[in-house]
Amino acid sequence: MKLLGKTPDVLLLFFCLVGAVDALHKQWIPDTNYENKTNWDKEAVPCGNDIVQFPAQRRVSVFVETTHAVQEMRLPVDGEFILNSGAGFYVVSGKDPGCGAGVTTQFRDSESLQWFNPALWQAAATLEDLQRGNFLFSVHDEGVPCQYDDVVFKSRSSFRVDTSSSQSSIPVKSVSVLGKKFESRSEFSQYLSSRSGQLQFRGSSVVAVGNQECGDPSGCDCGNSVNHQRICNTVTCASLSCTKPLVPVGHCCRVCGAIVTIYYAAGFNLQTYRQRVHHLFLILPKYKSIQLGMSKVFKSQRLMGVIPFGTSPEIQVVAVEGEKGSQSEGLAWDIVNDARSHGYNLGITGADFQASSGSSSDQTGGSAGMVVGVVFGVFIVITLIVVIVAVLIRKGVVRMPSSLPSLGSLNRSSNVADLGGPIDHGFDNPIFDRPNMLPDIPGVYAAETNHSISMTQTGVHFVNPVYDENETDFNA
Ligand SMILES: *[C@@H]1O[C@H](CO)[C@@H](O)[C@H](O)[C@H]1NC(C)=O
Repeated sequence: MKLLGKTPDVLLLFFCLVGAVDALHKQWIPDTNYENKTNWDKEAVPCGNDIVQFPAQRRVSVFVETTHAVQEMRLPVDGEFILNSGAGFYVVSGKDPGCGAGVTTQFRDSESLQWFNPALWQAAATLEDLQRGNFLFSVHDEGVPCQYDDVVFKSRSSFRVDTSSSQSSIPVKSVSVLGKKFESRSEFSQYLSSRSGQLQFRGSSVVAVGNQECGDPSGCDCGNSVNHQRICNTVTCASLSCTKPLVPVGHCCRVCGAIVTIYYAAGFNLQTYRQRVHHLFLILPKYKSIQLGMSKVFKSQRLMGVIPFGTSPEIQVVAVEGEKGSQSEGLAWDIVNDARSHGYNLGITGADFQASSGSSSDQTGGSAGMVVGVVFGVFIVITLIVVIVAVLIRKGVVRMPSSLPSLGSLNRSSNVADLGGPIDHGFDNPIFDRPNMLPDIPGVYAAETNHSISMTQTGVHFVNPVYDENETDFNA
């Protein structure tokens, strides 16, 4: 312990005013300040008649803002006081009249506070918003600092944070400690190895400053999906009362409310759009109780709703219902209608929503997708049949009826180019010979015209109404 008053550290406070960048500011809420009464087990800052006790085996960095009277102080084995200018301790002789009978009060243990607990962070678009208390709601994964965020520990504060995770490092853009902003990796690792740094940060992962900022105006991937389970382990989900709770990407709990999906193109700016939604809708009194979070997420794409074939970025707008409920659907409609009518200027190509009430922006939207899938499926089946028939005709297994000479000539002349030629290799079915593998000699077909489909083994009977039964030879 550095002794009180003997070597008072004078704090230089740097007020860093940061220009508008796409990153968010995430501020660590808990502190290890002497003046914060939540840090004392008696829920009060000790006064002149009290005995102050720090857990003997704990390491702690305590920020002291002003001067305090104490009766007695029991210090830990390892720790420090960071004294604000003019701060210190003194012992009163006799009784402190402004203090009670005198108790033994213990400084709370802050060992268990984890970096990956979203409840311990608050987010804002700018530093000024952080100071004014204009906080942003977000899904749990983005409640803790993302890889391109500016991390803020309150300027007149100390803290202790457990950074343990399965990753060796936690990349962030910058970290501000005691009013000093670290943006260079080497400078911050130097701070981490300092006495204060070692008392403030504990745990297996190293906070790595200097990650580049998000260069994409449409937003960037937070990068916390690798820590999703660790984050969710700290979260307790509330019980829900809505009929169809929703599961936002990156969130640990199901929610009552609505999820708007914004599809975007070049020219979309996430920060501008966030401000637009805020100024147009969120400030309306009817939406006061709604919490709205907006971020870029990667949704897995599925062919015909089943086969996954990659991910696509989209903007997820989560509106979580307040106490009263039922306003989120109106907000979702407002956002979708705004996106549809002004999307062209905003770089938005489409928008839809789902609400926990069960309704959605476009009831036909889902079935339209289904129709496309079914049509596509039918198209594939038809193509397959055409190819099979064409191959069979070419092999002479199926004889073309003489009543359809045009189809026959098409088959013999252009089909070679259409199906097997160098122009279009279209669709190879390994079950059948490729048409271009066949010798293109008319005599071969002529010789084979008497061949037929042999289906006796399987017992399958094949009748194609395109062909005249009299002309088609199915003698098994
Ligand atoms: C005191 O600590 C609590 C919990 O850590 C925090 O929420 C609160 O903001 C702190 N009070 C002040 C005045 O900073």
